[in-house]
Amino acid sequence: MTLPRIPSPGRALQLGASVWFIAATLGQWAFVLFILLFFGGHGLSGDLAGLNDKPHVTGYVPGDTFGNLQFIAHALMGGVVTFAGTWQLLPALRRRWPGIHRWNGRLFLGISLLGALSGLYLTWVRGSRLGVGSNVSITANGVLILAFATLAWRSALRRDFVRHRRHALRAFLLVNGVWFLRIGIMLAGLALAPLGVEINYTGMVFVGVSFASWLIPLTVLELYLRAERSQRAVPRYAMAGLLGVSALLVLAGSAAAVAFMWLPALRPGAAP
Ligand code: HEM
Repeated sequence: MTLPRIPSPGRALQLGASVWFIAATLGQWAFVLFILLFFGGHGLSGDLAGLNDKPHVTGYVPGDTFGNLQFIAHALMGGVVTFAGTWQLLPALRRRWPGIHRWNGRLFLGISLLGALSGLYLTWVRGSRLGVGSNVSITANGVLILAFATLAWRSALRRDFVRHRRHALRAFLLVNGVWFLRIGIMLAGLALAPLGVEINYTGMVFVGVSFASWLIPLTVLELYLRAERSQRAVPRYAMAGLLGVSALLVLAGSAAAVAFMWLPALRPGAAP
């Protein structure tokens, strides 16, 4: 009997990254599909009041034309930027069709900047705030998106592709902070419900998951970049294992978000 060959440290790291990317793409595209069906559907049918069939922070307010426009445009931009981000990470696309990588990159970075600015507007001007802790977290997330999207753009223009890759990966994870937040809340809910712990918007669990939704992905990325540079096998195998576990968590959180958050909101007459 031949034993399965253990992949080399470099190959294991690549495999871990690919498995995480596939899991994240499935979850992110489920989020994109929800945005398209829910916000796009209500927008196209003109039934804007129906947007409040699911809970929002402020949501649709009759008469507030500018605020409603910002809210709907922000959500739709969220869908576009999440979808565009996936393609930027495909090495084959970068190699074979660099023109598509460049144009999709401009779209991703441009919408990231606009999405972060409209999010800051919704939070600080329209007043869509959940509580002090989560406001600080989402504001930091928004400011970091502005910083890293700008740095990624600038390094690409300077043809400094080593820095460009690092900054663009950070921007990608930060832009997906809102998706990480949703799957994080689902995972926390699954873990804490059997203990009878309820999650509310101002409580420690929600605020903790808010910060974790961008701090943990950024930390894991830094560890991944270090493992890539390391010549030792242990950090590379350890990182591959961490990416495998993260992929399982991402899949579980995304499945729970589909079942308990996005599908119920798409059912006709969903309760607010
Ligand atoms: C660029 C990445 C972002 C994406 C992909 C994104 C996506 C979304 C989506 C899809 C919604 C609608 C959620 C729903 O109610 O179902 C939303 C709502 C919201 N976003 Fe963002 N967002 C991003 C960044 C931000 C930032 C940086 C902020 C604040 C600084 C922010 C603040 C808000 C607020 C306040 C709402 C709730 C509006 C309401 O319910 O009335 N977003 N976002």
